[in-house]
Amino acid sequence: MRESMGKLRRTHMCGELRIENVGEEVVLMGWVQRERNLGSLIFVDLRDTTGICQIVFDDTVSKEVFDKAEKVRSEFVLAVRGKVRERESKNKDIPTGDIEILAKELRILNESETPPIYIKDDDNVSEAMRLKYRYLDLRKPSMQNRLKIRHKVAKLIRDFMDENHFWEIETPILTKPTPEGARDYLVPSRVNPGKFYALPQSPQLMKQLLMVSGMDRYYQIVRCFRDEDLRANRQPEFTQLDIEMSFVDVDDVISINEKLIYKLFKEVKGIEIQLPIPRMSYKEAMERFGVDKPDLRFGFELVDVSDIVKSAEFKVFRNAVENKGSVRGINVKGYGDSFSRKDINSLEDYVKTFGAKGLAWVKITDEGITSPIAKFLSEEELNNIIERMDGEKGDLLVFVADKDQVVFDSLGNLRNELARRLNILDDNEIKPIWIVEFPLFEWDEEENRYVAKHHPFTHPMDEDIELLETEPEKVRAKAYDIVINGEEIGGGSIRISDSELQGRMFRALGFTEEEAWNKFGFLLEAFKYGTPPHGGIAYGFDRLVMTLTNTSNIRDVIAFPKTQSATCLLTDAPTDVSDEQLKEAHINLDLE
Ligand code: AMO
Ligand code: AMP
Repeated sequence: MRESMGKLRRTHMCGELRIENVGEEVVLMGWVQRERNLGSLIFVDLRDTTGICQIVFDDTVSKEVFDKAEKVRSEFVLAVRGKVRERESKNKDIPTGDIEILAKELRILNESETPPIYIKDDDNVSEAMRLKYRYLDLRKPSMQNRLKIRHKVAKLIRDFMDENHFWEIETPILTKPTPEGARDYLVPSRVNPGKFYALPQSPQLMKQLLMVSGMDRYYQIVRCFRDEDLRANRQPEFTQLDIEMSFVDVDDVISINEKLIYKLFKEVKGIEIQLPIPRMSYKEAMERFGVDKPDLRFGFELVDVSDIVKSAEFKVFRNAVENKGSVRGINVKGYGDSFSRKDINSLEDYVKTFGAKGLAWVKITDEGITSPIAKFLSEEELNNIIERMDGEKGDLLVFVADKDQVVFDSLGNLRNELARRLNILDDNEIKPIWIVEFPLFEWDEEENRYVAKHHPFTHPMDEDIELLETEPEKVRAKAYDIVINGEEIGGGSIRISDSELQGRMFRALGFTEEEAWNKFGFLLEAFKYGTPPHGGIAYGFDRLVMTLTNTSNIRDVIAFPKTQSATCLLTDAPTDVSDEQLKEAHINLDLE
């Protein structure tokens, strides 16, 4: 049975009605969350984006309406006219729990087959099923709430940017490769056989051109595309809040962005972030936390004990220091009892996934010290380690000895893993930090040359420019990342606006003049005609919304996301295309 709305028009949303509305005649429309037939009474919970309202069908009020209500099942779409009345047994768990609607008229606007997934938050269904039936998954209150907050965040951003004289300007999607370091998604050109557009990894070059155009302050909430290995916080197409400003240096960009961040957390979460947000150099972040995106909500900082163990009998430690690596540890302060031998073994397996060869440990208990490595260390060495790490009864000390990169990577990740396992992270505690003074270059083992850590237009710190040719590894960049609770939410830099410095940068990166012009000629040409000093930042908009909605899964904040293998389970994209389309695009799939 399907009926039209006829002249019925919705007067209220399902989640709106309160005790004050008792006596009013209302019309509600929505989906059936559930129905219970008690013989002479039928209760239906009707749902829309605002919540749930209980409807009662009473066979003594209207037999005809009651008979129709008997046909109603979950997810049917209904229009109901009736009177608001006070409930006999109130439900304190929902805002409309004091009232119910005694139905006088019912229209079944549409029926539904039994849905393949339950429309409730704790449905326990696989994510694959949820993604295949995403339109049903999105009926859940938690999903609707996240998309509502996403909308609100975008609106707050647009208002803030407008108040601060930024213009939202769109940039092309069909474009040339952008230098963000991932693989490009390519689009064949039908009218230019054999030629391809690249989808933008970011609007980086375009926003710099807009500064040359004199736009002064630009922003855009923009889709970016990167073909890279996906993780819980990465999607092949994601959204950036992209910003660029003229006549600025690092402090100017940071200061206006702090105001934006303050506003978002205040308005969305009611949390007042202390300004200015603290800053930490990349070097300090690595030394203390092992990662460049530290979660500052807990301790467990890394401690370097290399000097203490450099001539220890324990070869693993001694060799690491001799080979210019290090030995560092974490004091899992106060949680020694929480880790059995078996648990420590699983921590060891965990660090091995980051290339560590083992995880040495020392437990300080009431009975003294338990440790598989104590026998390889002198009493003095052991005591010095414990003192350096502030070890006390009840503590567990864990160590990795290796090349610095492996030590940082494994301990940095272990630190976060420890906090997760111990369940000590509070989602409502917000700890932002700017990471600054990144190295300008990174050594690329495969290519055997320096590559730009950010992109080749990043400005070196003024005091380090003289080292560009002599000690490039020491040059720090005018680059900054905003990190919140261990997640890189955004990053940016001041750009090079002087062609002589840009030339030195390209040479340091091993580009010939010709290569540089081939890749970025249009930008270099533009830079000849009066380029203002400029810089900017881009936020992972999805990640920002993740932080604001307490989820660690990026798919939770995107209506139609892709899986870890970059497929869409709802539409089945990517799919085969017809031979005809391939031919038009001048693509021959037989090429190996
Ligand atoms: P960057 O490459 O650091 O900088 O990107 C900016 C922010 O975008 C987010 N992000 C992602 N989010 C989801 N899925 C992905 N695959 C993904 N990749 C990046 C991160 C990151 O901090 N043009 C420069 C910015 C600038 O210099 O102004 C840029 O794109 O949160
Ligand atoms: P072994 O002598 O190999 O049995 O190692 C003794 C202890 O040292 C074990 O707890 C190992 O996990 C640990 N270990 C081995 N290699 C390393 C390393 N590179 N860094 C830290 N601990 C290690």
